[in-house]
Amino acid sequence: MDFFFFLFFSPFRSVIFLTMERLVIYLLVISTAVKAMMCPKRCMCQNLSPSFTILCTKTGLLFVPPSIDRRTAELRLMDNFITTLRRKDFANMTNLIHLTLSRNTISQIMPYAFFDLKGLHALHLDSNRLTYINEDHFKGLINLRHLILSNNQLNYISPGSLDDFIETIEDLDLSYNNLVNVPWETIAKLS
Ligand SMILES: *[C@@H]1O[C@H](CO)[C@@H](O)[C@H](O)[C@H]1NC(C)=O
Repeated sequence: MDFFFFLFFSPFRSVIFLTMERLVIYLLVISTAVKAMMCPKRCMCQNLSPSFTILCTKTGLLFVPPSIDRRTAELRLMDNFITTLRRKDFANMTNLIHLTLSRNTISQIMPYAFFDLKGLHALHLDSNRLTYINEDHFKGLINLRHLILSNNQLNYISPGSLDDFIETIEDLDLSYNNLVNVPWETIAKLS
């Protein structure tokens, strides 16, 4: 009996095909699982490989979700109730390019909260409750081009706080704050 005869006419035919079919399904499931990113609850996630986008707008967030894929390139968390930014929130997110935290209730940025964001180009923190910027708030943002801090309650910006991106920054928005003086000492350093 030759092999093809065996394959198509043997009583084992359905068993063989079932096994092959299952194998194909398993392979599909595995390849999807490898590519899939974790999407936090109630968020929208887009996988335009190799770039991941996560959108969590008006989702009632009280903090940055811990389940964010570390490969994310764009993270938009506007219109929530986040109050504090912690160092672990953005740990290892070296691919992040855009971070939007507009219209939250952020009053506290923990030291080195953005330290791993070496590739970040744009940071939107407008319409929050920040009152001051310290030297250790923006440490590590060595590629930052756009820093939007409008509509906060800023009354003090420490002279060394923008040092990590003096070479790269293209726009800095400090409008609608409580600054008594323009922080010339800090701004004069920006190239
Ligand atoms: C970041 O990476 C380090 C080293 O690989 C790991 O130990 C740590 O758990 C990671 N943290 C997060 C929040 O992913």
